[in-house]
Amino acid sequence: MSPGKVLVTGGAGFIGSHVCEAYLADGWEVTALDNLSTGRKENLPPDVRFIELDIRDDGIREVFKDGKFDVVNHHAAQIDVRTSVDKPRYDASINIDGVLNLVESSIEFGLSRFVFISSGGVVYGEPTNLPVPRTAPKGPLSPYGVSKLTSEYYLQAFRKLHGLEYVALRYSNVFGPRQDPHGEAGVVAIFSQRIRDGQTLSVFGDGKQTRDYVFVKDVAAANVLVTHADLPEPEGLDDVAFNVGMGIETSVNELAAALIGVAGIETEIKREPARPGELFRNSLDCKETRALGWGPAYTLETGLAETYEFIAGQR
Ligand SMILES: NC(=O)c1ccc[n+]([C@@H]2O[C@H](COP(=O)([O-])OP(=O)(O)OC[C@H]3O[C@@H](n4cnc5c(N)ncnc54)[C@H](O)[C@@H]3O)[C@@H](O)[C@H]2O)c1
Repeated sequence: MSPGKVLVTGGAGFIGSHVCEAYLADGWEVTALDNLSTGRKENLPPDVRFIELDIRDDGIREVFKDGKFDVVNHHAAQIDVRTSVDKPRYDASINIDGVLNLVESSIEFGLSRFVFISSGGVVYGEPTNLPVPRTAPKGPLSPYGVSKLTSEYYLQAFRKLHGLEYVALRYSNVFGPRQDPHGEAGVVAIFSQRIRDGQTLSVFGDGKQTRDYVFVKDVAAANVLVTHADLPEPEGLDDVAFNVGMGIETSVNELAAALIGVAGIETEIKREPARPGELFRNSLDCKETRALGWGPAYTLETGLAETYEFIAGQR
């Protein structure tokens, strides 16, 4: 597909704003749509057209009618696992109803592709084999995981019913500049800010729990790639779902040490009781994503250095 017009929902957020930049660099005309609940307009480069709107709003149809988009890239979401546990209907209103609102307009106005952002951290549940292949059994343990997986199933059904082409990206733990240090997922942002401010780092449990940390610019590149990729006619959910991670497990202890090394600031680590309900280990097998031609350009260290430099400069 040659570059055309793309609507990036959640475009003023952490990952969405990098995705807008990557589409711009690839020659797309980019519109970002965001209700600014966590996103910030300042995250967006000036060449991106901005629309402030909730994805659940009836005005979405008009946006599609006027915008004549070729592609929707859907990043807007309720992203907090604990919020989804406390308010599952609120989570579903954004993460399921909001998606359906966008999908209905995508079908009505004949868009070429719907890029849906899922999560490899929550759709599989507690993994038995690492790194987790995309075909691993699904077992979401939170309403957030259920809503992400449900949206993938809806898109699969709409592909068969209406021919809407879609692709799902299942991210591991994304980190980089502009991540909100207050969110639960943002351990790199939280640690960076605390190191910068001379505060102790809290590590829960023994710190041996692992995650697969991937740098946001590599994630943005994967979005552009799957927008252009020739996709198979899917027989099952996993045929058009792509894991996006490094495939490397890094423990919280290792992450803390690496960041302290990057910052060059001695920092005390405080042990806190383990948090119930946390996955113990995770990393994603991304061989199908790599087969499309994707590969991370950043290592954990180079990504951490760029992130820390950004956060240190924010003081
Ligand atoms: N950060 C991660 O490690 C990670 C991992 C897996 C999946 N994801 C997914 O990536 C996407 C982006 O996450 P992020 O980390 O950049 O978070 P973020 O909070 O920075 O981005 C979400 C954006 O969506 C906007 N938004 C929220 N609800 C909206 C609504 N109802 N209408 C319009 N806009 C709305 C927010 O204002 C924000 O700008 C989400 O779909 C998330 O589930 C993130």
